[in-house]
Amino acid sequence: MKKPVEKLLKEEAKEELAVLSKEISEHDVRYYQKNAPSISDAEYDLLRKRNDEIEGRFPEHVRKNSPSRQVGAAPSAGFTKVRHSVPMLSLGNAFDETDVKDFFERIKRFLNLDQNEQIEVVAEPKIDGLSIALRYEKGKFVTGATRGDGIEGENVTANLGTMREIPPEIKGSAPTVLEIRGEVYLSRGAFENINKMRKIHGEPEFANPRNAAAGSLRQLDSTITAKRPLQLFTYAWGEVSEDFGLTHSDRLLQMKKWGFPVNPLSGTCNNSVEAITYHQKILNNRHNLDYDIDGIVYKVNRLDWQQRLGFVSRAPRWAIAHKFPAEKATTVLNKITIQVGRTGALTPVANLTPVTVGGVVVSRATLHNADEIKRKDIREGDTVIIQRAGDVIPQVIEVLTEKRVPTAKIFLFPKNCPECNSQVVRAENEAVHRCTGGLLCPAQKLERLKHFVSRNAFDIEGLGGKHLEGFLNHNIIKNPADIFNIRTYTKFLRSREGWGDKSVDNLLASIEERRKISLERFIFALGIRQVGQANSKQLAFHYHSADIWLQTMQKAARERGSNRGEQKSTEFVGEAFDTLCNIEGVGISIADDIVLFFSEQENVRFIKDLLDSIMVEDAAPKVEGSSTLSEKVIVFTGSLKKMSRAEAKAVAETLGAKVTGSVSQNTDYVVVGTDAGSKAKKAIELGITVLSEQEWLVLSKE
Ligand code: IVH
Repeated sequence: MKKPVEKLLKEEAKEELAVLSKEISEHDVRYYQKNAPSISDAEYDLLRKRNDEIEGRFPEHVRKNSPSRQVGAAPSAGFTKVRHSVPMLSLGNAFDETDVKDFFERIKRFLNLDQNEQIEVVAEPKIDGLSIALRYEKGKFVTGATRGDGIEGENVTANLGTMREIPPEIKGSAPTVLEIRGEVYLSRGAFENINKMRKIHGEPEFANPRNAAAGSLRQLDSTITAKRPLQLFTYAWGEVSEDFGLTHSDRLLQMKKWGFPVNPLSGTCNNSVEAITYHQKILNNRHNLDYDIDGIVYKVNRLDWQQRLGFVSRAPRWAIAHKFPAEKATTVLNKITIQVGRTGALTPVANLTPVTVGGVVVSRATLHNADEIKRKDIREGDTVIIQRAGDVIPQVIEVLTEKRVPTAKIFLFPKNCPECNSQVVRAENEAVHRCTGGLLCPAQKLERLKHFVSRNAFDIEGLGGKHLEGFLNHNIIKNPADIFNIRTYTKFLRSREGWGDKSVDNLLASIEERRKISLERFIFALGIRQVGQANSKQLAFHYHSADIWLQTMQKAARERGSNRGEQKSTEFVGEAFDTLCNIEGVGISIADDIVLFFSEQENVRFIKDLLDSIMVEDAAPKVEGSSTLSEKVIVFTGSLKKMSRAEAKAVAETLGAKVTGSVSQNTDYVVVGTDAGSKAKKAIELGITVLSEQEWLVLSKE
């Protein structure tokens, strides 16, 4: 057994890297030149992985002839993964002044601040690059990772190590563990140069600087990265072993002193009016910058306030991205086609004459639904204005009717699914048309599989849409559970055109790696309508294990089955269904979609099959350590002085309590502020423990 990488001493690491480098290059020769490998691909990948991990910890010992630096090195299975000790989150968006004002107001309300109290924020340009985390231990750069899904990223230490702007060592004294976060980007000038060279060499050009930066950073061969002039702005931190400033701006200053690049345009604003002025100023100057930005980020400056504000789902309450207005362009809409989604929704798509919008070539745009086409009177052959904002799919915003040609054709929404010919229906109160084919529809089947293997679900690398389509056509995969039995087809896979032994082995290995999954990802992967990541998380917390989840959902489906059609949300349907409705973020509409999914026997069957071949980890209870409040049911009533009710609720929930709106036998505590009314009275009648705000504060800090 080899010593774990984290236990290796400096000298041992150096020695092992020398041995690994020799070993790997010998295997390369056997594999590539003699066609006679002496070890399996999996074993070979392990050697490379170990090499990368050691290099990640000891970048100072990366050898000049290291396998990770070889030009034309064998494609390894990819980068190793790094789990972020503090998740890398995303940001909520503000699109106009009202959204920005709301952001400031929300904060005031949450912190229960006086109306005329100023909330100072730091405003920074939002860099259109890719976010990375740089980990320093005892002042030395040890690991660099991409954001990935926010929980786990890719280890790109060797590549980041080639960047001039990343200090290999911190200037002056710094916390023992320090993780600095920021955005890697390419200047517009560098992007143009790279594309010029690619054109000369007959290589496909990058669509925009962001893609070019991502392509440059995610190179398995770091000598390629080294040739690309990647740049960096740092603006946040992850794990830190000691505090280094009480405000965001203090910390930026300190980061600058340590040698990290901080955007010189960052500034502070005291209120929403100043923030909006700052936004306007940068927007007007945007074209003078040599890098792409897509908005301004505002961050509450006081870190104690940031701490109290916390997070909702995957974004902090203390920051927001104020986006720049979308960029627009005029082009011709040649044809409207229909795309069938995972849940059968039919989306009309505009096929356009390609046009560049904000640096990206756009040839398709969404038309949302039939009503939208009608409302905007969009016809095939029309000249249209399209817009593109950030990551969202381009949209058709209006038709230039004065340019309409006589041949322009009104679009008739199909009555049958273009993929499976099943009937198309449109539910009352819904804008969407849906294919009724369910899993009989090949498009729905394929989309469901794509979702199942996607990054935030099972995250199976190397199983793209084209492969899935092929497997479906050959009946190798009929439902998601079959993915985990694909091994039985190894021979067939190896015989397929374009599939080398290595890629088959890599695929099988990445499937194996995912046989163990968290309950939250598992629920998300099922692809139930309206059940996204946030809901999946709540459901996982609540039902705890896959077996309980399956059984209870089937029960809820039976309860609802005998009640369907009665849409009244107040009526009692059954215990399982009602509990489901009451889970935070669920409600009757989502609960109905969930039980609809479970009332289809085919779905239940494939989940059972799936559970036979994988391991779903139970969800950890929603507590930070064990707390006296875990599992307790709390009601807040009246107004609190030290914090808003929203903050009190957030605190209670992170301690594992459940906060409800009405007092019942199930309530454990009622926290009473000033001017509390009937709820306090009811609590006393029912003999429930009543707490004052002060008592609640003591309890929540225990
Ligand atoms: S702060 C918890 N500041 O925008 C908040 N993000 O849409 C962490 N980004 O994932 C992000 N410039 O990749 C922050 N000045 C800036 C930024 C910035 C660009 C990116 C970052 C983040 C994404 C969120």
